[in-house]
Amino acid sequence: MKQNSVYIETYGCQMNVADTELVQGLLVEKGYSLTQNIDTADVILLNTCSIRDNAEQRIYGRLGNIKAIKDKDPSKVIGILGCMAERLKKDLIEEKKMVDVVVGPDEYRRLPEFIDDAFTGEKGIGVKLSRTETYDDILPYRENGLSAWISVMRGCDKFCSYCVVPFTRGRERSRSLDSIKNEVKLLSQKGFREITLLGQNVNSYSDNGNDFADLLSASAKVDPLMRIRFTTSHPQDLSDKLLYTITENDNICKYIHLPVQSGSNRILELMNRTYTIEHYLNLIEKARKLIPSVSFSTDIISGFPTESEEDHRATLTVMRQVEYDGAYMFKYSPREGTKAYRMNDDVSEEVKTKRLNEIIDLQQSISLTQNQKLIGKQEIILVEGDSRKSSDYLSGRTDSNKVAIFPKQDNIKPGDYVAVKINKVTSATLFGDVI
Ligand code: SAH
Ligand code: SF4
Ligand code: F3S
Repeated sequence: MKQNSVYIETYGCQMNVADTELVQGLLVEKGYSLTQNIDTADVILLNTCSIRDNAEQRIYGRLGNIKAIKDKDPSKVIGILGCMAERLKKDLIEEKKMVDVVVGPDEYRRLPEFIDDAFTGEKGIGVKLSRTETYDDILPYRENGLSAWISVMRGCDKFCSYCVVPFTRGRERSRSLDSIKNEVKLLSQKGFREITLLGQNVNSYSDNGNDFADLLSASAKVDPLMRIRFTTSHPQDLSDKLLYTITENDNICKYIHLPVQSGSNRILELMNRTYTIEHYLNLIEKARKLIPSVSFSTDIISGFPTESEEDHRATLTVMRQVEYDGAYMFKYSPREGTKAYRMNDDVSEEVKTKRLNEIIDLQQSISLTQNQKLIGKQEIILVEGDSRKSSDYLSGRTDSNKVAIFPKQDNIKPGDYVAVKINKVTSATLFGDVI
């Protein structure tokens, strides 16, 4: 029998990237083959994101292109996975007539069955959320490489007032520590050099009395040459124990992504973030005391309902105080079903854009200053491969996840750690020489 080939395109966060590998693992096990060529694929899947309206609009646009492929060859199966599948459910089949399969994040085990049915002309919808599904027993499909994402928990119980994730991903649940440790072992044997432990709020990880610090420490002990990263931490739950665990293990990166969202206590409360800016800044100070080389990145939303110029200035102030290495910065986007959706979206598009631009400009100048502090210093780089712009140069990353570029040497290959002295920087890249 002919093996049907599957093409998957992934949108959204790293959880989706990890889920795509999971789905690929599942499908390969059921006898499907994977392809990178959308034109020849028998099955076209989009793993989608609902976080902001523009994320969904982009995917609708892409569906339009794919419709042309299906029009030419109606035997092809088109499927939507991920957060949009969960949010829009059967609307996707009824509105977008060419979609055959809609499967949300907790029903991927049924995907092969739905695809098989779709070949016989049946539509399939699986969008039930689960309190227990963690896909603990499924090995994600991974090409050989250096970096891997490991999802350690699913869902989110935080219910920040602007956010769809608790609705599209359901309740928090953790994978078992043993299965994660085994996956790290396997990756280490395959030559991977860096893993990132993933969850919407990793600090809520819990398995048989083990918390996230225990998991991090167990993962770090598997292979001292493997860099361990993690994301995302919620400022309310980041424990002292976690900070100690980071200092105690050389191979846990001294880098924390700690989304602040806003610098104004009034807005933080409306966002249901459950911490104050004082708590947040204390946490940063404590982390810096315990881990002197630690650096931070963040997420910021501009133009949340009722945000005043003064609230906006408070955000800029916090950015200057913390001096983030990097930030993901967004305009507020109202999402149906969330608590903030019932608030009046009263900051005009124009003001949102102006504030976002101020935030981006400020962050760019902070990133540059932060990088300039590294000039003359030595950084340990994990070599990834040729630099994008020239094969005379190699590219890799620092412990703090910054890209570093340096002249190629024959004895240095991807996966090596090299000491590089930084001599030039931009806001996004470091340049140096191997020492
Ligand atoms: N669990 C992670 C990531 C959530 S999604 C966390 O809590 O940090 C990534 C980021 O998208 C969020 O941190 C937030 O800054 C942004 N975001 C989420 N919902 C949004 C919305 N409705 N409008 C604009 N930005 C949003
Ligand atoms: Fe969304 Fe908040 Fe959960 Fe992050 S912690 S996924 S922002 S609800
Ligand atoms: Fe998007 Fe879902 Fe991730 S909404 S950001 S893909 S959890």
